[in-house]
Amino acid sequence: MTAAHEKGFFTEENSVEVVTGRNADARNERLKFAMEVITRKLHEAVKEIEPTQDEWFEAIMFLTRTGHLCTEWRQEFILLSDVLGVSMLVDAINNRKPSGASESTVLGPFHVADAPELPMGANICLDHKGEDMVISGRVLDTRGRPLADAVLDVWQANDEGFYDVQQKGIQPDFNLRGVFRTGPDGRYWFRAVKPKYYPIPDDGTVGKLLGALGRHPYRPAHLHYIIRADGFETLTTHIFDPDDPYINSDAVFGVKESLLAEFRKVDDPKRASALEFAGPFWEVEHDFVLAPE
Ligand code: BEZ
Ligand code: FE
Repeated sequence: MTAAHEKGFFTEENSVEVVTGRNADARNERLKFAMEVITRKLHEAVKEIEPTQDEWFEAIMFLTRTGHLCTEWRQEFILLSDVLGVSMLVDAINNRKPSGASESTVLGPFHVADAPELPMGANICLDHKGEDMVISGRVLDTRGRPLADAVLDVWQANDEGFYDVQQKGIQPDFNLRGVFRTGPDGRYWFRAVKPKYYPIPDDGTVGKLLGALGRHPYRPAHLHYIIRADGFETLTTHIFDPDDPYINSDAVFGVKESLLAEFRKVDDPKRASALEFAGPFWEVEHDFVLAPE
């Protein structure tokens, strides 16, 4: 029997209407809407590309291999979304900040939930490898008032471009991670080492795709932050080294103008010794402005 919404037999011309018409009784309106858009755009792409049967099978095998790579520890589909710019697009749509508030960027796969809370000024570099760096700034509201009790969860790659979780047994656990809480002045500061650019995991399907597209897998050097304060939107962001060779070609499109920090080289033996650094060091100052909830 043909239901009222059936559009007849499938043809190349009416493919979208026939398929989306089948969803007329969908109970979830949001799902129905999303599938209508996705079907329309997907059919449009197929009609424009006109894949051969072999090419379509290759595409299906690419997705199959991508799924097979996913484990508790690895999410190749998120990586695919990252390199297609979709993660940043979803982030942008969901984090339209009021003017003056700090911008967000991708979370990435290397955050760990249980990093230790440390006293302000602590050195998060536990293996003392790399160039010393001191990072400081304030957490403010959009009217410039300091936020007390803001919690900053920070993490970064080491001087060779690896996170601790990628080098278990080589780097100490929680190397280059820490949680800091601001006092009444909204200030934060901690010590670390200058991060290095690094490749996103590129030994899977996403890495192969990047290679085939003539793209490199690198992210420019950055520090990750999640900043929380009561009554404010949580901010997931980075600060970037503007002098990094990959600053204009981040593999996951995470760089924004406002996230470029200034990395200054300081040669001041007195300050170095006060910071317990052996010699010249890097200094980064960056304020974060949280949007009201
Ligand atoms: C990161 O910055 O940790 C990251 C983000 C997206 C993909 C891979 C890594
Ligand atoms: Fe990162």
